[in-house]
Amino acid sequence: MKIFSGTSNKPLAQKIAKNLGLPLSDLEIFVFPDGEKRVRALDKVVGEDCVVVQPTSPEPDKNYMELFLIADAILRNGAKSITAVIPYLSYQRQDRLFREGEAVSLDVIRKILEAVGISKIITIDLHSVRIPELFKIEVAHLSALSIFAEKILEIIRGSVADCVLVSPDMGGVRRIKILSEMLGGMPYAVIVKNRNLATGKLTASEIQGEIKKRAIIVDDMISTGETIKLATELLRKNGAKEIYVFATHPVFSKDAKNVLQKSYAERVFVTDTIEIPKEKEFPKLEILSVSEMIAGQLKKNS
Ligand code: R5P
Repeated sequence: MKIFSGTSNKPLAQKIAKNLGLPLSDLEIFVFPDGEKRVRALDKVVGEDCVVVQPTSPEPDKNYMELFLIADAILRNGAKSITAVIPYLSYQRQDRLFREGEAVSLDVIRKILEAVGISKIITIDLHSVRIPELFKIEVAHLSALSIFAEKILEIIRGSVADCVLVSPDMGGVRRIKILSEMLGGMPYAVIVKNRNLATGKLTASEIQGEIKKRAIIVDDMISTGETIKLATELLRKNGAKEIYVFATHPVFSKDAKNVLQKSYAERVFVTDTIEIPKEKEFPKLEILSVSEMIAGQLKKNS
C-alpha cells in the first residue's frame, strides 16, 4: 500500500501513515500563478493499492480539484486501486433537492469522484446516513462517536445521573441515540432548531427532553458556531450549569473562534478531520484524533 497526501491536512495524513508504519509517498504539486495546479506522482505505484488523504474543507473547490488530479496522476502511473480518505466530505449539505431550481451538489461531486477512477471512499460522520447509498463505489462511513464516548466518560468521572446528551437539531437525533447507548443509556434531549434557507438565520424554539446540571452537546460539524451559541444559551436558560460541546468536523468559518470562546460552553471538543490553523485555535478548544480509526479501516482493506 502507498499513502499520499493532498495539501489540505498533511498532519492527519502523517499520523495515519505513522499508524500504518508507512512513509508518505512523494507528490509534486506545482501551483501556476493563476491558481491552476500541476500534479505529479514521484513514487512508483505500478500494481499498488494507493490511498490519498484529502479532507475538502476549507476551500472545497480547490481541495476537490487537487484530489481529482492526484487520483488521475496515480492511476496513469499504474496504480491498482485508489482509496480516497475524505474525512470531511464537502458539498454533502446539498445531498438532495431542497428547493426548486437548486443544484444537487453532492451528486455532481459523486459523479466526478467515480469518473476519475476512485474505487473506495473512507469518510467520517456524514450529515446524513443515506449518503453512502447514493454512491456507486464503496463508501466506508466511520464515526467519531466512540472517541467522544471515551472522552465524555473521562470528563464526567462517573456522575452519569447529572448528565444529559443534547442534539442541537432534529437531524442529530440518530447520532445522539447511538451515543446514549454507548454511554449505558445516558438520557438525551433535542433542540428544535430552524434555519431560514434564504437568509441562513437560525432560531431555536424549544427543547424536547429534561435538562440536567451537565449538558453535553453533540453535533456533526461546527461552521460559524451560531448553532452552538444558540444551543448553549437555551440550555443555560433551562438550568444547565456545565455545558460541553463535541463536534466531529471543525469547519470553523467566519468568526467561529470568538463565537465559541465567548459561548457558555466550558470546553469544545472537535476532531482533526479538518486541519485547524493556529490562528483559529482558542483556549476552550481540544482536538481529538481520528487517525487511528482511519488507519484501522485501511488495515482492514489490505
Ligand atoms: C446542521 O444541521 C449541522 O448539523 C450543524 O449544526 C451546522 O452545520 C452548524 O453550523 P453553524 O455552526 O454555522 O451553526
